[in-house]
Amino acid sequence: MKNLKERILELKKEKNAVILAHYYQEADIQDIADYVGDSLGLSQEAMKVDADIILFAGVHFMAETAKILNPTKKVILPDLKAGCSLAESCPPDLFKKFIDEHPDHIVITYVNCSAEIKALSDIVCTSSNALKIVESIPKETPIIFAPDKNLGKYIISKTGRDMLLWDGSCVVHEAFSLDKLIEVHKQYPDATIIAHPESETHILQTASYIGSTAGMIDYVKTNPNNQFIVATEAGILHKMQQEVPHKILIPAPAKEDNTCACSECGYMKMNTLQKVYDCLLTESPEIDVPENIRKKALVPIERMLELSK
Ligand code: 13P
Ligand code: SF4
Repeated sequence: MKNLKERILELKKEKNAVILAHYYQEADIQDIADYVGDSLGLSQEAMKVDADIILFAGVHFMAETAKILNPTKKVILPDLKAGCSLAESCPPDLFKKFIDEHPDHIVITYVNCSAEIKALSDIVCTSSNALKIVESIPKETPIIFAPDKNLGKYIISKTGRDMLLWDGSCVVHEAFSLDKLIEVHKQYPDATIIAHPESETHILQTASYIGSTAGMIDYVKTNPNNQFIVATEAGILHKMQQEVPHKILIPAPAKEDNTCACSECGYMKMNTLQKVYDCLLTESPEIDVPENIRKKALVPIERMLELSK
């Protein structure tokens, strides 16, 4: 009797599908994926897919971005409810009103937003290229940055740009506790703290490295230290530990967490191995982006990809 992983791999071949997975997916899903990466890497990979079906093991905005970039492919997502608190914080009608109130501003949006929001934007960014994208805008041009206020504040601190920020945040990265982080650091005084820029300022101020999930993995690989406290979603530890099996990786503790001391994204974890199988079998749920929105959303994504080369 074949196990679920074997049946997925068989079905994947039969259906001519590829599985793209984010680092926050459960370990079993990452293990059967053709590609595991951060938001930028996943977009670049989605664009190149030649197979008939892209099964996106991630959240809704990521699957939507894949569909925008590669519209002739069938893009399926194991659970349509796999959303994102950042994307949900930014409804298109309110965002449109905000933009209309500031007509002289360039609109930069973090990729963690809906296709409708991207369609209202001038340029998109991810956590790995946000500084570069903002710095590409002439100094005298005012900027609206949405929806992540924490990433926005981080960019302001690094670039000195005065940006208008949307009031959105990531529920996972806002849950890290500074007091508990300090406690953990006392237990591992030699550990280097690394953090994702969706974290709050007081957490970022403790970090020696701030970057995207892929950037954080690269950092632990290349940094000579052997101990790291990792302030991002705990799913990253799977690939990170595979890359540095001899190093000690400690998940940063969350405020409300007295048990496992790690943070998980409830949206990302809605995808399960069983749902991946069912999704491939039924080729649903499918991601659909209306063509008028897709065309408009493609422009700021392509601008970002061009600048990220
Ligand atoms: P990256 O993997 O692009 O760093 O993004 C993190 C994240 O929160 C995705 O939702
Ligand atoms: Fe959204 Fe945060 Fe989950 Fe990433 S970790 S998908 S930003 S809620």
